[in-house]
Amino acid sequence: MRAYGFKSNGGPEVLEEIRVPTPAPGPGQVLIEVAYAGVNFAEVQHRRGEFGEPDGHGGYDVPGLEVSGTVVALGTGARGPAVGEQVAAYLPGFGGYAQFAVADRDFVRPVGPLPPAHAAGVPCVYPTAYGVLTDAGRLRHGETVLIHAAAGGVGSAAARIARALGAELVLGTVGSPEKAELAGALGYDALFAREGFADAVVEVTAGRGVDLVLDPVGGPVRRASLEVLAPFGRVVGYGDLGRHADWTADVWDLWKNSRSIAGYNIGDVARRSPATIGEHLSRALTALASGTLPYDPPTVVTSAEVAEVHRRFEAGGTRGKTVLRIGGPDAV
Ligand SMILES: NC(=O)c1ccc[n+]([C@@H]2O[C@H](COP(=O)([O-])OP(=O)(O)OC[C@H]3O[C@@H](n4cnc5c(N)ncnc54)[C@H](OP(=O)(O)O)[C@@H]3O)[C@@H](O)[C@H]2O)c1
Repeated sequence: MRAYGFKSNGGPEVLEEIRVPTPAPGPGQVLIEVAYAGVNFAEVQHRRGEFGEPDGHGGYDVPGLEVSGTVVALGTGARGPAVGEQVAAYLPGFGGYAQFAVADRDFVRPVGPLPPAHAAGVPCVYPTAYGVLTDAGRLRHGETVLIHAAAGGVGSAAARIARALGAELVLGTVGSPEKAELAGALGYDALFAREGFADAVVEVTAGRGVDLVLDPVGGPVRRASLEVLAPFGRVVGYGDLGRHADWTADVWDLWKNSRSIAGYNIGDVARRSPATIGEHLSRALTALASGTLPYDPPTVVTSAEVAEVHRRFEAGGTRGKTVLRIGGPDAV
């Protein structure tokens, strides 16, 4: 089958079109003919080598954490979606940038009426967004939320979900002034430049601060986020976009100021609580299809543009969700 992979870690140029054997579904797995593959920042990290060296077939790794497509075969004991059904799937072991991908049954759900190109951007992004907001962040009705990397895939989904869950004020930070103008379109009350965001948050909350901060950036952004927490506020760390060195929080400072730091990792949840991912995926697909959760159409690019898309991700040049067209129709 045709796939997009890399044989050595490095810049976007290491991504190439390759031929690898079509995978066979193991017990409890399904084989999906991929229509669209969501692009995630984690795939940039995979390519760079932050998850180790490639060790797949022929020395290649095929990235890709989420897809939509058609079920074409079932492994033994795989109950659920039927052959021929349109599904969306989260792939914790990667492999989505390919004509065919195998997925564990736990992470596969029917797309229903959602267009397949849109569904491809759901299986990793939405369980993460629900997870950081509710499982790690313990969001409650009427609370205020601040979302860093606000205009990205997870960030823009989290803004819509936070609002649907009853958040009263949804704020975000972005890396450029042009993105700050997208606040209304993305469902935010306000977007601020990441540089110096703390003053803007204090001002707009009249000194109270926010109840919950979602932070995939790390370093000084995470430290400054602790300072803008309202009483019992939580910062959820779930990425290291800034590639800053790790740092140690002072527990004295946390309890003296009634604040908490939590963490979230979808790969960990998938290993230790797979049903949680499946529940969030079902919930997201249902809410998106019914309109309870508004969604913005993804940017659809051809698979041949994969290296260019990785370049844009690293430059902060993408907005919302980007998906690769693998076998799906041009018009979405
Ligand atoms: N822990 C988990 O389970 C989990 C699951 C999924 C994703 N994530 C993390 O969530 C984050 C967002 O992922 P995504 O796939 O939705 O990507 P994305 O947000 O669509 O793209 C990344 C965005 O982050 C911002 N950014 C901030 N600092 C950056 C830097 N130093 N370099 C590049 N971009 C930077 C950029 O926008 P601005 O500069 O305008 O803000 C960029 O557009 C990533 O850190 C990813 O690893 C974590």
